[in-house]
Amino acid sequence: MTSLAIDGKDYPVLSGTVGPEVVDIRKLYANTGRFTYDPGFTSTASCESKITYIDGDAGILLYRGYPIDQLAEQSNFIEVAHLLLNGELPSADEYADFSRHITRHTMIHEQLATFYRGFRRDAHPMAIMCGIVGAMAAFYHDSTDIHDPKQRVIASHRLIAKMPTLAAMAYKYSIGQPFLYPDNSLSFSANFLRMTFGVPAEPYVVDPVVEDAMEKLLILQADHEQNASTSTVRLAGSSGANPFACISAGIACLWGPAHGGANEAALNMLRQIGTPDRIPEFIARAKDKNDPFRLMGFGHRVYKNYDPRAKVMGKVAKQVLDKLGINDPIFDVARELEQIALNDPYFIDKKLYPNVDFYSGVVMSAIGFPTSMFTVLFAISRTVGWIAQWTEMMEDPEQKIGRPRQLYTGATHRDYVPLASR
Ligand code: ACO
Repeated sequence: MTSLAIDGKDYPVLSGTVGPEVVDIRKLYANTGRFTYDPGFTSTASCESKITYIDGDAGILLYRGYPIDQLAEQSNFIEVAHLLLNGELPSADEYADFSRHITRHTMIHEQLATFYRGFRRDAHPMAIMCGIVGAMAAFYHDSTDIHDPKQRVIASHRLIAKMPTLAAMAYKYSIGQPFLYPDNSLSFSANFLRMTFGVPAEPYVVDPVVEDAMEKLLILQADHEQNASTSTVRLAGSSGANPFACISAGIACLWGPAHGGANEAALNMLRQIGTPDRIPEFIARAKDKNDPFRLMGFGHRVYKNYDPRAKVMGKVAKQVLDKLGINDPIFDVARELEQIALNDPYFIDKKLYPNVDFYSGVVMSAIGFPTSMFTVLFAISRTVGWIAQWTEMMEDPEQKIGRPRQLYTGATHRDYVPLASR
């Protein structure tokens, strides 16, 4: 189909390189005086993008064309960040250059550290991250001119590099330990692990299996096309807001339990099940229409097949638990639950497969992160995707302020009645 006729007018059908065609309805209102109605944007493409492709039915996720499992197994986070931001895997020189830029930006302005003291010790780290990342705009004035491509690049590097430092500080603040400065001789992940779990009193030895797991976690969650937080970043950026403000908006959206918070819910559920013999009871509850219980970490709005990220995460969970010698029954519960659900007609018919959150909570918990930090880790990783998507939008000549319309169902015109007469 090359066009779709509505009220006698043709609307062009656009094709991407792969994936569903889209109907270009930009002239619909001008031609018909009608809007489209699509709450939750389930049928609406909000932009053109070259960054990430998902085929939910086939269980495919590509970053710039590369399958996620290949990147998770063979690449590293810095290389993937370069790929997402610039469109190509870096050459050796480009890799060294990009890596140096990110490493050079890991420290934060010393005065920014004093902000932490303003928060309660029991503040949720995501609350701290929303505030601190937004506050960065007050410190890095030389990278807030969004119309200057060089400043955009500097802001991107700053955000990617400083997120682990800010996140580790949020954790340290909550447990009353001193902040650790970054160690730029370490990899992106090892540096974050050291700033989070190390103390100034003794050297911190990075476990290579844990470092590798951290790299994979970061790679798997780095981008996921126009999800809620990415769309939030784009919408905030569409008004010309600076990148620090936009990423702060993305963090706020990610915080929601329907988005970044699902891994915590999945881990809690596995703990609640406790032992494999209790699985049938929970499967029965998940199938019961009168019971609101759902198997957390199962099902996805887009994936109607095995989430390719969950496959990698399952392997990582096993490696980490084996290496750390953690004999956690929740991993047995997870494995068995997965097998039972994958063979149950209810889950097969409804195309409910494990999603990335099914195993990521197990991995983060085994590494030592408290559940409140799970979404913070997600934010460190997704900052790369947010920045790549924001940059793409800023470079798009057709970019305009995002301004959805509405179906108004409120009161029609009525005259004001003074208080004494109501
Ligand atoms: N357990 C049991 N039944 C389920 C589950 C589940 N986890 N997920 C969906 N279903 C059932 C629904 O009851 C519904 O049944 P019905 O057709 O008989 O009414 C059917 O499957 C379709 O479910 P919807 O909620 O309409 O599917 P949708 O695509 O809108 O929802 C969602 C996807 C929200 C992720 C859902 O599968 C869910 O709640 N999963 C558990 C939470 C979770 O793991 N979220 C993480 C998502 S991944 C991420 O955000 C990174």
